[in-house]
Amino acid sequence: MPMLSAYGTIRHRIVRRKGLSVIMDTIIATVAARVKTATSMVALTGAGVSAESGIPTFRGPEGLWQQYRPEDLATPQAFARDPRLVWEWYDWRRQKIAPASPNPAHEVLAHFEKIVPDFLLITQNIDGLHRLAGSRSLIEMHGSIWHVRCLAEGSVRENRAVPLGALPPRCPCGSLLRPDVVWFGESLSPDDQRRAFAAAESADVFLTIGTSALVQPAASLPIVAKDRGAFVVEINPVPTPISALVDAHLQGAAGVILPQILAAVAQH
Ligand code: APR
Repeated sequence: MPMLSAYGTIRHRIVRRKGLSVIMDTIIATVAARVKTATSMVALTGAGVSAESGIPTFRGPEGLWQQYRPEDLATPQAFARDPRLVWEWYDWRRQKIAPASPNPAHEVLAHFEKIVPDFLLITQNIDGLHRLAGSRSLIEMHGSIWHVRCLAEGSVRENRAVPLGALPPRCPCGSLLRPDVVWFGESLSPDDQRRAFAAAESADVFLTIGTSALVQPAASLPIVAKDRGAFVVEINPVPTPISALVDAHLQGAAGVILPQILAAVAQH
């Protein structure tokens, strides 16, 4: 099957605005038909899905990693060196995320869970917005910014205090707490990883949305799905390293395109 794309390559080298929207409509109709007949579907999301909720992404011109160095703030070594600095950054991010609401992209993904028999949402986001939108068949593969873990006991509990107060926060046992998130150099929960790859291997349709497809192991999931015969769709305003591999690339904002797909599913 040739790649469907709303930009680039032979078919669409010279495209006027009107022509582009016709092409987009055609691709959206094709994707909707696949979604409608899918018995198993996986959606992988990244920071871009929360951009329209006002939460900054990591890469790109406005991305957090333009202003901050991950090795200073998002590694176990950084935390061991300066837990207060790391917590100040997470406390700041919690203050940015706390007032944010799910956007139409989160809402459509929560709805897919109701209409596709076997649907799994895998997110790299730690902001909790998918859960807030109602998604329950959900793997938060990088953890949650709203969970803290005791370094001594390993116990995890919810903590929604914004701001956190005295930093770094401590467990009642006296030990340091850390954010229950996956930092660079750390492994994902083996169970989450196994479930995510099993779902990608058996998906009829795989959506990759708002991720730069640069961070492993998440970046391998659409490739595994494609190898196993899934129809792979990417939604992103810019091309990524996997754009050339996908069956359909929809260039644009997730909060605009996902509602169009859902509307086309309803019409189909
Ligand atoms: N809709 C869809 N995609 C968007 C939107 C939008 N409205 N706005 C931005 N994007 C795209 C960007 O073009 C970019 O490709 O979202 C992507 C965000 O990429 P990253 O910032 O790299 O985020 P992500 O892929 O989630 O990063 C993976 O890296 O630093 C770590 O742990 C962090 O989970 C994160 C991981």
